[in-house]
Amino acid sequence: DVSASFVVVANRLPVDRVQHPDGTVDWRTSPGGLVTALEPVMRKNEGAWVGWHGAPDEVLDPFEEDGITIVPVPLSSQEVAEYYEGFSNATLWPLYHDVVAPPEFHREWWDAYVRVNRRFAERAAAVSDEGATVWVQDYQLQLVPQMLRTMRPDLRIGFFLHIPFPPVELFQQLPWRREITEGLLGSDLIGFQLPGAVQNFTRLVRQRVSAEVRRDLVTLPDGHVARAKAYPISIDSRGFRELARSAPVRERAREIRRDLGDPEVMFLGVDRLDYTKGIKQRLRAYGELVAEGRLDPDKVVFVQVATPSRERVDQYRHLRDEIDMLVGRINGEVGRIGRPPVVYLHSSFPREEMAALYSTADVMVVTPLRDGMNLVAKEYVACHEGDEGALVLSEFAGAAYELKQAYKINPYDINDIKATLELACRDAPTNKARRLRALRKQVFDNDITRWADTFLSDLDQKVTG
Ligand code: G6P
Repeated sequence: DVSASFVVVANRLPVDRVQHPDGTVDWRTSPGGLVTALEPVMRKNEGAWVGWHGAPDEVLDPFEEDGITIVPVPLSSQEVAEYYEGFSNATLWPLYHDVVAPPEFHREWWDAYVRVNRRFAERAAAVSDEGATVWVQDYQLQLVPQMLRTMRPDLRIGFFLHIPFPPVELFQQLPWRREITEGLLGSDLIGFQLPGAVQNFTRLVRQRVSAEVRRDLVTLPDGHVARAKAYPISIDSRGFRELARSAPVRERAREIRRDLGDPEVMFLGVDRLDYTKGIKQRLRAYGELVAEGRLDPDKVVFVQVATPSRERVDQYRHLRDEIDMLVGRINGEVGRIGRPPVVYLHSSFPREEMAALYSTADVMVVTPLRDGMNLVAKEYVACHEGDEGALVLSEFAGAAYELKQAYKINPYDINDIKATLELACRDAPTNKARRLRALRKQVFDNDITRWADTFLSDLDQKVTG
Protein backbone atom coordinates (compact mmCIF):
# COMPACT_ATOMS: atom_id res chain seq x y z
CA ASP A 1 0.00 0.00 0.00
CA VAL A 2 1.16 3.48 -0.88
CA SER A 3 1.87 5.91 1.94
CA ALA A 4 3.67 9.20 1.65
CA SER A 5 4.52 12.20 3.81
CA PHE A 6 4.58 14.57 0.80
CA VAL A 7 1.81 14.39 -1.77
CA VAL A 8 1.23 16.46 -4.91
CA VAL A 9 -2.28 16.50 -6.36
CA ALA A 10 -2.59 17.80 -9.93
CA ASN A 11 -4.91 17.18 -12.84
CA ARG A 12 -2.00 15.75 -14.83
CA LEU A 13 0.63 13.21 -13.80
CA PRO A 14 4.31 14.08 -14.31
CA VAL A 15 4.85 11.04 -16.56
CA ASP A 16 4.28 10.39 -20.25
CA ARG A 17 3.22 7.06 -21.63
CA VAL A 18 5.71 5.49 -24.05
CA GLN A 19 4.42 2.80 -26.36
CA HIS A 20 7.11 0.33 -27.49
CA PRO A 21 7.08 -1.41 -30.91
CA ASP A 22 6.29 -4.77 -29.25
CA GLY A 23 3.10 -3.25 -27.84
CA THR A 24 4.24 -2.93 -24.22
CA VAL A 25 3.62 0.36 -22.44
CA ASP A 26 6.10 2.22 -20.30
CA TRP A 27 6.20 5.56 -18.47
CA ARG A 28 8.82 8.27 -18.53
CA THR A 29 9.01 11.30 -16.25
CA SER A 30 8.02 14.32 -18.33
CA PRO A 31 10.54 17.16 -18.16
CA GLY A 32 8.15 19.84 -16.83
CA GLY A 33 9.35 22.52 -14.43
CA LEU A 34 7.14 21.43 -11.54
CA VAL A 35 8.54 17.87 -11.51
CA THR A 36 12.09 19.16 -11.71
CA ALA A 37 11.49 21.43 -8.73
CA LEU A 38 9.73 18.84 -6.63
CA GLU A 39 11.90 15.82 -7.40
CA PRO A 40 14.35 16.43 -4.51
CA VAL A 41 11.48 16.94 -2.01
CA MET A 42 9.74 13.89 -3.44
CA ARG A 43 12.76 11.62 -3.01
CA LYS A 44 13.56 12.84 0.49
CA ASN A 45 10.00 12.35 1.72
CA GLU A 46 8.97 9.29 -0.29
CA GLY A 47 6.60 11.48 -2.22
CA ALA A 48 3.51 10.55 -4.15
CA TRP A 49 1.85 12.31 -7.09
CA VAL A 50 -1.90 11.94 -7.55
CA GLY A 51 -3.14 12.80 -11.05
CA TRP A 52 -4.94 11.79 -14.22
CA HIS A 53 -2.90 9.73 -16.70
CA GLY A 54 -4.62 11.24 -19.75
CA ALA A 55 -6.42 8.15 -21.08
CA PRO A 56 -10.23 8.15 -20.70
CA ASP A 57 -11.92 5.04 -19.29
CA GLU A 58 -8.65 3.41 -18.21
CA VAL A 59 -8.02 2.28 -14.65
CA LEU A 60 -4.38 1.90 -13.58
CA ASP A 61 -2.73 0.76 -10.34
CA PRO A 62 -0.21 2.99 -8.56
CA PHE A 63 3.38 2.49 -9.70
CA GLU A 64 6.87 3.74 -8.98
CA GLU A 65 8.78 5.94 -11.46
CA ASP A 66 12.14 7.62 -10.81
CA GLY A 67 11.63 7.44 -7.05
CA ILE A 68 8.14 8.96 -7.17
CA THR A 69 5.00 6.99 -6.42
CA ILE A 70 2.52 7.65 -9.18
CA VAL A 71 -1.15 7.38 -8.19
CA PRO A 72 -3.33 7.47 -11.34
CA VAL A 73 -6.89 8.80 -11.00
CA PRO A 74 -9.28 7.36 -13.60
CA LEU A 75 -11.73 9.54 -15.55
CA SER A 76 -14.55 8.25 -17.74
CA SER A 77 -14.93 9.78 -21.22
CA GLN A 78 -17.99 11.60 -19.96
CA GLU A 79 -16.00 13.05 -17.08
CA VAL A 80 -13.28 14.13 -19.49
CA ALA A 81 -15.98 15.94 -21.49
CA GLU A 82 -17.73 17.51 -18.48
CA TYR A 83 -15.04 18.04 -15.84
CA TYR A 84 -11.93 18.63 -18.01
CA GLU A 85 -13.10 20.02 -21.37
CA GLY A 86 -16.29 21.48 -19.91
CA PHE A 87 -16.06 23.04 -16.46
CA SER A 88 -12.27 23.38 -16.29
CA ASN A 89 -11.62 24.58 -19.81
CA ALA A 90 -14.85 26.11 -21.11
CA THR A 91 -16.09 27.64 -17.82
CA LEU A 92 -13.18 28.40 -15.47
CA TRP A 93 -10.40 28.96 -18.03
CA PRO A 94 -12.12 31.81 -19.91
CA LEU A 95 -13.70 33.24 -16.73
CA TYR A 96 -10.32 33.47 -15.00
CA HIS A 97 -8.67 34.97 -18.11
CA ASP A 98 -10.65 38.22 -18.24
CA VAL A 99 -13.50 36.49 -20.15
CA VAL A 100 -11.51 36.96 -23.39
CA ALA A 101 -13.85 34.20 -24.60
CA PRO A 102 -17.36 33.85 -23.15
CA PRO A 103 -17.49 31.24 -20.36
CA GLU A 104 -20.25 28.65 -20.53
CA PHE A 105 -22.18 27.66 -17.41
CA HIS A 106 -23.75 24.18 -17.32
CA ARG A 107 -25.05 22.48 -14.23
CA GLU A 108 -24.01 18.99 -15.43
CA TRP A 109 -20.45 20.20 -15.86
CA TRP A 110 -20.43 21.50 -12.31
CA ASP A 111 -21.76 18.17 -10.98
CA ALA A 112 -18.93 16.35 -12.76
CA TYR A 113 -16.38 18.85 -11.37
CA VAL A 114 -17.57 18.16 -7.82
CA ARG A 115 -17.52 14.40 -8.38
CA VAL A 116 -14.03 14.36 -9.88
CA ASN A 117 -12.62 16.74 -7.25
CA ARG A 118 -13.96 14.37 -4.59
CA ARG A 119 -12.23 11.43 -6.27
CA PHE A 120 -8.90 13.30 -6.26
CA ALA A 121 -9.40 14.24 -2.60
CA GLU A 122 -10.20 10.62 -1.68
CA ARG A 123 -7.08 9.33 -3.41
CA ALA A 124 -4.94 11.96 -1.70
CA ALA A 125 -6.49 11.12 1.70
CA ALA A 126 -5.82 7.43 1.15
CA VAL A 127 -2.11 7.79 0.40
CA SER A 128 -1.17 10.49 2.94
CA ASP A 129 0.67 9.59 6.16
CA GLU A 130 -0.45 11.08 9.46
CA GLY A 131 0.40 14.79 9.40
CA ALA A 132 1.61 14.70 5.77
CA THR A 133 1.95 17.77 3.57
CA VAL A 134 -0.32 17.84 0.51
CA TRP A 135 0.15 20.34 -2.30
CA VAL A 136 -2.85 20.74 -4.61
CA GLN A 137 -2.28 22.37 -8.03
CA ASP A 138 -4.42 24.64 -10.17
CA TYR A 139 -7.95 25.54 -11.24
CA GLN A 140 -9.09 22.02 -12.09
CA LEU A 141 -8.97 21.05 -8.38
CA GLN A 142 -10.18 24.05 -6.37
CA LEU A 143 -12.58 22.02 -4.24
CA VAL A 144 -9.94 19.51 -3.14
CA PRO A 145 -8.49 21.53 -0.21
CA GLN A 146 -11.76 21.73 1.71
CA MET A 147 -12.83 18.18 0.86
CA LEU A 148 -9.47 16.88 1.99
CA ARG A 149 -9.50 18.87 5.22
CA THR A 150 -12.88 17.36 6.11
CA MET A 151 -11.59 13.82 5.45
CA ARG A 152 -8.18 14.38 7.04
CA PRO A 153 -7.94 17.32 9.48
CA ASP A 154 -4.39 16.23 10.39
CA LEU A 155 -2.89 17.19 7.00
CA ARG A 156 -1.10 20.41 6.02
CA ILE A 157 -2.71 21.53 2.81
CA GLY A 158 -1.25 23.94 0.28
CA PHE A 159 -2.84 25.10 -2.95
CA PHE A 160 -1.26 26.91 -5.89
CA LEU A 161 -3.21 28.59 -8.69
CA HIS A 162 -1.13 28.69 -11.88
CA ILE A 163 -3.56 30.95 -13.76
CA PRO A 164 -4.84 34.44 -12.89
CA PHE A 165 -7.44 34.93 -10.17
CA PRO A 166 -10.09 37.27 -11.61
CA PRO A 167 -11.51 40.47 -10.09
CA VAL A 168 -14.67 39.98 -7.98
CA GLU A 169 -16.76 41.67 -10.71
CA LEU A 170 -16.02 38.74 -13.06
CA PHE A 171 -15.76 35.94 -10.52
CA GLN A 172 -19.24 36.64 -9.20
CA GLN A 173 -20.77 35.53 -12.51
CA LEU A 174 -20.01 31.98 -11.44
CA PRO A 175 -23.17 30.28 -10.10
CA TRP A 176 -20.91 28.20 -7.82
CA ARG A 177 -18.77 31.08 -6.55
CA ARG A 178 -19.43 30.25 -2.89
CA GLU A 179 -18.44 26.59 -3.22
CA ILE A 180 -15.22 27.43 -5.06
CA THR A 181 -14.23 30.11 -2.54
CA GLU A 182 -14.88 27.76 0.37
CA GLY A 183 -13.05 24.97 -1.42
CA LEU A 184 -9.91 27.10 -1.63
CA LEU A 185 -10.23 28.27 1.97
CA GLY A 186 -9.79 24.67 3.13
CA SER A 187 -6.05 25.21 2.50
CA ASP A 188 -3.52 26.38 5.07
CA LEU A 189 -1.72 28.34 2.36
CA ILE A 190 -3.15 29.53 -0.97
CA GLY A 191 -0.50 30.59 -3.47
CA PHE A 192 -1.14 32.92 -6.39
CA GLN A 193 1.19 34.14 -9.15
CA LEU A 194 0.94 37.87 -8.35
CA PRO A 195 0.04 40.23 -5.48
CA GLY A 196 -2.87 41.51 -7.62
CA ALA A 197 -4.44 38.05 -7.56
CA VAL A 198 -4.06 37.89 -3.78
CA GLN A 199 -5.90 41.21 -3.57
CA ASN A 200 -8.68 39.97 -5.85
CA PHE A 201 -9.07 36.92 -3.65
CA THR A 202 -9.05 38.67 -0.28
CA ARG A 203 -11.49 41.29 -1.59
CA LEU A 204 -13.80 38.47 -2.65
CA VAL A 205 -13.54 36.79 0.75
CA ARG A 206 -14.31 40.06 2.56
CA GLN A 207 -17.43 40.57 0.46
CA ARG A 208 -18.80 37.07 0.33
CA VAL A 209 -17.63 34.87 3.20
CA SER A 210 -18.31 35.20 6.89
CA ALA A 211 -14.70 35.16 7.92
CA GLU A 212 -12.30 37.54 9.52
CA VAL A 213 -9.72 38.91 7.08
CA ARG A 214 -6.60 40.55 8.41
CA ARG A 215 -4.20 41.42 5.59
CA ASP A 216 -3.40 38.05 4.00
CA LEU A 217 -4.86 35.92 6.81
CA VAL A 218 -8.40 34.57 6.65
CA THR A 219 -9.87 33.14 9.87
CA LEU A 220 -12.98 31.02 9.40
CA PRO A 221 -15.74 30.68 12.02
CA ASP A 222 -14.41 27.21 13.00
CA GLY A 223 -10.99 28.72 13.79
CA HIS A 224 -9.22 27.45 10.69
CA VAL A 225 -6.74 29.98 9.29
CA ALA A 226 -5.91 30.19 5.59
CA ARG A 227 -3.17 32.44 4.32
CA ALA A 228 -3.03 33.92 0.79
CA LYS A 229 0.29 34.97 -0.73
CA ALA A 230 1.99 35.53 -4.09
CA TYR A 231 4.70 33.17 -5.38
CA PRO A 232 5.60 34.01 -9.00
CA ILE A 233 6.48 30.66 -10.58
CA SER A 234 9.61 30.18 -12.64
CA ILE A 235 11.59 27.62 -14.65
CA ASP A 236 14.62 25.38 -14.24
CA SER A 237 16.78 28.24 -15.53
CA ARG A 238 20.14 26.49 -15.21
CA GLY A 239 18.80 23.33 -16.79
CA PHE A 240 17.61 25.31 -19.81
CA ARG A 241 20.88 27.21 -20.12
CA GLU A 242 22.92 24.00 -19.99
CA LEU A 243 20.75 22.48 -22.67
CA ALA A 244 21.14 25.54 -24.89
CA ARG A 245 24.91 25.40 -24.43
CA SER A 246 25.22 21.74 -25.37
CA ALA A 247 26.95 20.94 -28.65
CA PRO A 248 24.00 19.21 -30.39
CA VAL A 249 21.63 22.08 -29.55
CA ARG A 250 24.09 24.69 -30.82
CA GLU A 251 24.55 22.74 -34.04
CA ARG A 252 20.79 22.45 -34.40
CA ALA A 253 20.42 26.22 -33.89
CA ARG A 254 22.82 26.88 -36.80
CA GLU A 255 20.95 24.37 -38.93
CA ILE A 256 17.59 26.03 -38.21
CA ARG A 257 19.01 29.39 -39.21
CA ARG A 258 20.36 27.94 -42.47
CA ASP A 259 17.10 26.18 -43.25
CA LEU A 260 15.26 29.48 -42.78
CA GLY A 261 17.53 31.01 -45.45
CA ASP A 262 19.79 32.92 -43.04
CA PRO A 263 17.33 35.72 -42.28
CA GLU A 264 18.57 39.01 -40.88
CA VAL A 265 15.85 38.95 -38.22
CA MET A 266 14.16 35.85 -36.90
CA PHE A 267 11.03 36.46 -34.81
CA LEU A 268 9.75 33.62 -32.65
CA GLY A 269 6.41 32.83 -31.01
CA VAL A 270 5.89 29.72 -28.88
CA ASP A 271 2.52 28.97 -27.33
CA ARG A 272 -0.05 26.34 -26.61
CA LEU A 273 -2.64 27.03 -29.29
CA ASP A 274 -4.91 29.02 -26.95
CA TYR A 275 -7.09 32.11 -27.46
CA THR A 276 -5.58 33.79 -24.40
CA LYS A 277 -2.15 33.93 -26.05
CA GLY A 278 -2.77 36.76 -28.53
CA ILE A 279 -1.38 34.80 -31.49
CA LYS A 280 -3.73 36.47 -33.98
CA GLN A 281 -2.85 39.95 -32.74
CA ARG A 282 0.89 39.37 -33.08
CA LEU A 283 0.63 37.80 -36.55
CA ARG A 284 -1.62 40.59 -37.75
CA ALA A 285 0.88 43.20 -36.52
CA TYR A 286 3.80 41.41 -38.17
CA GLY A 287 1.85 40.85 -41.40
CA GLU A 288 1.06 44.57 -41.64
CA LEU A 289 4.69 45.55 -41.05
CA VAL A 290 5.80 43.31 -43.91
CA ALA A 291 2.96 44.41 -46.22
CA GLU A 292 3.80 48.07 -45.57
CA GLY A 293 7.48 47.49 -46.26
CA ARG A 294 8.48 48.47 -42.74
CA LEU A 295 10.01 45.00 -42.50
CA ASP A 296 11.72 43.59 -45.61
CA PRO A 297 10.16 40.24 -46.59
CA ASP A 298 13.51 39.16 -48.04
CA LYS A 299 15.21 39.59 -44.70
CA VAL A 300 12.78 38.58 -41.98
CA VAL A 301 10.90 35.48 -40.91
CA PHE A 302 8.41 34.78 -38.12
CA VAL A 303 8.53 31.25 -36.73
CA GLN A 304 5.34 30.47 -34.83
CA VAL A 305 5.20 27.21 -32.88
CA ALA A 306 1.68 26.42 -31.68
CA THR A 307 1.36 23.29 -29.58
CA PRO A 308 -1.96 21.47 -30.08
CA SER A 309 -4.11 21.87 -26.98
CA ARG A 310 -7.64 20.98 -25.78
CA GLU A 311 -8.60 20.21 -29.36
CA ARG A 312 -12.10 18.97 -28.59
CA VAL A 313 -13.18 22.27 -27.04
CA ASP A 314 -15.06 24.40 -29.63
CA GLN A 315 -13.22 27.64 -28.98
CA TYR A 316 -9.87 25.95 -29.56
CA ARG A 317 -11.08 24.41 -32.81
CA HIS A 318 -12.25 27.79 -34.09
CA LEU A 319 -8.99 29.43 -33.13
CA ARG A 320 -7.03 26.83 -35.08
CA ASP A 321 -9.06 27.58 -38.21
CA GLU A 322 -8.61 31.32 -37.76
CA ILE A 323 -4.86 31.04 -37.40
CA ASP A 324 -4.56 28.66 -40.37
CA MET A 325 -6.38 31.28 -42.41
CA LEU A 326 -4.38 34.23 -41.15
CA VAL A 327 -1.03 32.52 -41.80
CA GLY A 328 -2.22 31.50 -45.28
CA ARG A 329 -3.29 35.06 -46.02
CA ILE A 330 0.00 36.64 -44.92
CA ASN A 331 2.12 34.08 -46.78
CA GLY A 332 -0.09 34.36 -49.87
CA GLU A 333 0.04 38.13 -49.93
CA VAL A 334 3.64 38.96 -49.16
CA GLY A 335 5.51 35.66 -49.59
CA ARG A 336 8.14 35.01 -52.28
CA ILE A 337 9.30 31.67 -53.66
CA GLY A 338 11.37 29.98 -50.97
CA ARG A 339 10.66 32.83 -48.52
CA PRO A 340 7.41 32.53 -46.62
CA PRO A 341 7.24 35.40 -44.10
CA VAL A 342 5.60 33.09 -41.55
CA VAL A 343 6.74 29.56 -40.76
CA TYR A 344 3.90 27.99 -38.80
CA LEU A 345 4.35 24.72 -36.92
CA HIS A 346 1.26 23.19 -35.35
CA SER A 347 2.99 20.54 -33.23
CA SER A 348 4.95 20.03 -30.05
CA PHE A 349 8.72 19.59 -29.95
CA PRO A 350 11.23 18.17 -27.48
CA ARG A 351 13.04 20.57 -25.14
CA GLU A 352 16.22 20.35 -27.23
CA GLU A 353 14.46 21.76 -30.28
CA MET A 354 12.88 24.53 -28.21
CA ALA A 355 16.25 25.46 -26.69
CA ALA A 356 17.74 25.66 -30.20
CA LEU A 357 14.91 27.94 -31.36
CA TYR A 358 15.19 30.20 -28.29
CA SER A 359 18.95 30.47 -28.53
CA THR A 360 18.91 31.63 -32.15
CA ALA A 361 15.76 33.81 -32.31
CA ASP A 362 16.46 37.56 -32.46
CA VAL A 363 13.09 38.74 -31.21
CA MET A 364 10.91 36.62 -28.93
CA VAL A 365 7.28 37.72 -29.21
CA VAL A 366 5.01 36.96 -26.23
CA THR A 367 1.65 38.76 -26.52
CA PRO A 368 -1.03 37.15 -24.34
CA LEU A 369 -4.29 38.99 -23.69
CA ARG A 370 -4.07 37.52 -20.17
CA ASP A 371 -1.68 34.96 -18.73
CA GLY A 372 -1.00 33.74 -15.18
CA MET A 373 2.78 33.88 -15.70
CA ASN A 374 4.06 32.75 -19.15
CA LEU A 375 7.09 30.55 -18.77
CA VAL A 376 8.03 30.82 -22.46
CA ALA A 377 9.25 34.37 -21.82
CA LYS A 378 11.54 33.07 -19.06
CA GLU A 379 12.73 30.12 -21.16
CA TYR A 380 13.84 32.51 -23.90
CA VAL A 381 15.81 34.60 -21.43
CA ALA A 382 17.49 31.53 -19.92
CA CYS A 383 18.45 30.05 -23.31
CA HIS A 384 19.40 33.17 -25.25
CA GLU A 385 23.01 34.07 -24.53
CA GLY A 386 25.09 36.95 -25.78
CA ASP A 387 24.15 40.62 -26.07
CA GLU A 388 21.77 40.48 -29.01
CA GLY A 389 18.22 39.41 -28.63
CA ALA A 390 15.02 41.00 -27.45
CA LEU A 391 11.95 39.97 -25.53
CA VAL A 392 8.67 41.63 -26.55
CA LEU A 393 6.23 41.00 -23.70
CA SER A 394 2.58 41.74 -23.05
CA GLU A 395 1.70 43.84 -20.00
CA PHE A 396 -1.08 41.31 -19.42
CA ALA A 397 1.30 38.39 -18.76
CA GLY A 398 2.17 37.69 -15.14
CA ALA A 399 5.82 37.55 -16.27
CA ALA A 400 5.72 41.32 -16.93
CA TYR A 401 5.63 41.87 -13.15
CA GLU A 402 9.20 40.57 -12.80
CA LEU A 403 10.57 41.03 -16.33
CA LYS A 404 10.40 44.81 -16.24
CA GLN A 405 13.18 45.27 -18.79
CA ALA A 406 11.32 43.53 -21.60
CA TYR A 407 9.91 45.59 -24.52
CA LYS A 408 6.36 45.91 -23.17
CA ILE A 409 3.27 46.00 -25.37
CA ASN A 410 -0.49 46.26 -25.01
CA PRO A 411 -1.71 43.30 -27.11
CA TYR A 412 -5.04 45.02 -27.78
CA ASP A 413 -3.18 47.83 -29.54
CA ILE A 414 -1.95 46.56 -32.92
CA ASN A 415 -0.07 49.79 -33.63
CA ASP A 416 1.76 49.42 -30.33
CA ILE A 417 2.77 45.85 -31.22
CA LYS A 418 3.97 47.05 -34.65
CA ALA A 419 6.04 49.92 -33.27
CA THR A 420 7.54 47.71 -30.57
CA LEU A 421 8.46 44.90 -32.98
CA GLU A 422 10.28 47.51 -35.08
CA LEU A 423 12.00 48.96 -32.02
CA ALA A 424 13.07 45.49 -30.86
CA CYS A 425 14.75 44.96 -34.25
CA ARG A 426 16.41 48.33 -34.50
CA ASP A 427 17.21 49.39 -30.96
CA ALA A 428 20.82 50.30 -30.17
CA PRO A 429 22.94 47.27 -29.25
CA THR A 430 23.81 48.81 -25.87
CA ASN A 431 20.12 49.10 -25.00
CA LYS A 432 19.44 45.51 -25.97
CA ALA A 433 22.41 44.27 -24.00
CA ARG A 434 21.40 46.21 -20.90
CA ARG A 435 17.84 44.89 -21.02
CA LEU A 436 18.93 41.30 -21.56
CA ARG A 437 21.34 41.45 -18.64
CA ALA A 438 18.61 42.68 -16.29
CA LEU A 439 16.19 40.00 -17.51
CA ARG A 440 18.78 37.28 -17.05
CA LYS A 441 19.43 38.38 -13.48
CA GLN A 442 15.73 38.04 -12.72
CA VAL A 443 15.34 34.60 -14.30
CA PHE A 444 18.44 33.15 -12.64
CA ASP A 445 17.68 34.71 -9.23
CA ASN A 446 14.13 33.40 -9.04
CA ASP A 447 14.16 29.90 -10.49
CA ILE A 448 11.74 27.04 -9.95
CA THR A 449 13.68 25.66 -6.99
CA ARG A 450 13.41 28.93 -5.13
CA TRP A 451 9.71 29.10 -5.95
CA ALA A 452 9.01 25.62 -4.53
CA ASP A 453 11.26 26.10 -1.49
CA THR A 454 9.62 29.40 -0.55
CA PHE A 455 6.11 28.00 -0.86
CA LEU A 456 6.89 24.83 1.06
CA SER A 457 8.72 26.58 3.87
CA ASP A 458 5.79 29.02 4.30
CA LEU A 459 3.41 26.06 4.33
CA ASP A 460 5.54 24.41 6.97
CA GLN A 461 5.23 27.33 9.35
CA LYS A 462 2.33 27.15 11.70
CA VAL A 463 0.12 30.10 10.85
CA THR A 464 -1.93 31.71 13.60
CA GLY A 465 -4.76 34.20 13.18
C1 G6P B 1 -1.87 25.64 -18.15
C2 G6P B 1 -2.52 25.21 -16.85
C3 G6P B 1 -2.05 23.81 -16.45
C4 G6P B 1 -2.24 22.85 -17.60
C5 G6P B 1 -1.51 23.36 -18.84
C6 G6P B 1 -1.71 22.45 -20.08
O1 G6P B 1 -0.52 25.91 -17.95
O2 G6P B 1 -2.25 26.14 -15.83
O3 G6P B 1 -2.81 23.36 -15.34
O4 G6P B 1 -1.80 21.57 -17.26
O5 G6P B 1 -2.01 24.64 -19.15
O6 G6P B 1 -3.07 22.27 -20.36
P1 G6P B 1 -3.77 20.84 -20.35
O7 G6P B 1 -5.23 21.14 -20.47
O8 G6P B 1 -3.21 20.13 -21.54
O9 G6P B 1 -3.40 20.15 -19.07
